[in-house]
Amino acid sequence: MRDLGNPLELAARCGSTKRSGSDLTAIDSDLDAAGSFQLGSWRVNRLGYGAMQLAGDNVFGPPRDRNEAIRVLCAAVSSGINHIDTAHYYGPGVVNELIYEALYPYPSDLAIVSKVAARRDEAGAVLPYDEPDQLRAGIEENLVTLGLDRLAAVNLRLMDGSTPGRRFDAQLAALVKARDEGLIDGIGLSNISKRHLLRAVDESEIVCVQNLFNLADQRSIELLNECISRDIAFVPFCPLGWPRERQNAILTSPILSHLGERLGATPAQIALAWLLDLAPNILLIPGTRTRRHLAENIQSAAIRLDDEARAELARAFPTTPAS
Ligand SMILES: NC(=O)c1ccc[n+]([C@@H]2O[C@H](COP(=O)([O-])OP(=O)(O)OC[C@H]3O[C@@H](n4cnc5c(N)ncnc54)[C@H](OP(=O)(O)O)[C@@H]3O)[C@@H](O)[C@H]2O)c1
Repeated sequence: MRDLGNPLELAARCGSTKRSGSDLTAIDSDLDAAGSFQLGSWRVNRLGYGAMQLAGDNVFGPPRDRNEAIRVLCAAVSSGINHIDTAHYYGPGVVNELIYEALYPYPSDLAIVSKVAARRDEAGAVLPYDEPDQLRAGIEENLVTLGLDRLAAVNLRLMDGSTPGRRFDAQLAALVKARDEGLIDGIGLSNISKRHLLRAVDESEIVCVQNLFNLADQRSIELLNECISRDIAFVPFCPLGWPRERQNAILTSPILSHLGERLGATPAQIALAWLLDLAPNILLIPGTRTRRHLAENIQSAAIRLDDEARAELARAFPTTPAS
């Protein structure tokens, strides 16, 4: 289990409001079993946490259960998670404020990674906020709401599906400037094509790529392979297929249930173990609002797939690169 540095300090933070002492109980897990990978200058455990779901329904505040949201964050960090993914536009502001309330002052090894290029209107609609000056403003909003001087990394989250060109160069330049001025340690790219990555690495070091990727949607496989060849962290978003209200091809898959029975795991754990098994540069950030699912997800670090399981999953969820 992780050395918390100063457990009394964490206890003071995580036990300071209406929360009970049991919030600090670290989840019985072996996070080390999944190993770690470099996220720019940060070394992080491969199993992290995506905080988006804490914002509330439709990622728009208020949270369904604010106290449980705080407990989830405390339990994640107490259990050894040292990579949290967020964005100021989750809520908006809500998720960053929860992270601040639960965890500030942050453990020195906690990499908080955010993203910019979107904002919310009063009805919750997601709007682009992706002009260079808006990207800069987005970084500054994150710093303020998280109480940080510097973020471990910030992803430029492309909103418009445009091909790489001068607009992309100008957006990237805004992040390079922020990094050179010390506001962020590393630059990430999100919702991109392989061509964006190839253009970006000519201009700057890229520390992570965050795209939709899971068992049921492997359209970013070529991008993943490019990241593998360049030792860039690949962070699949929606690793469980974000069920929302509709049928989820991953969590309801009879193949995963069947495989889970054989390997002593739940479908969610198999889906996460598959990603961990796929490549060493994959960093997971599954999202949840509950400590029960957090514990389940953390425990996937120790699940090992055998060749038979790999073959069964490859047959059931064939790779389909983007055309
Ligand atoms: N760059 C981008 O554009 C982008 C887009 C989307 C997301 N993200 C990031 O990626 C992170 C992960 O994606 P996500 O949260 O959207 O999707 P996800 O991790 O695929 O799925 C989260 C959903 O799965 C449920 N869940 C979690 N653990 C479970 C378990 N063990 N068993 C059954 N259900 C479980 C959660 O419900 P409960 O709350 O009930 O557990 C939640 O509804 C986000 O939190 C966010 O930080 C980035």
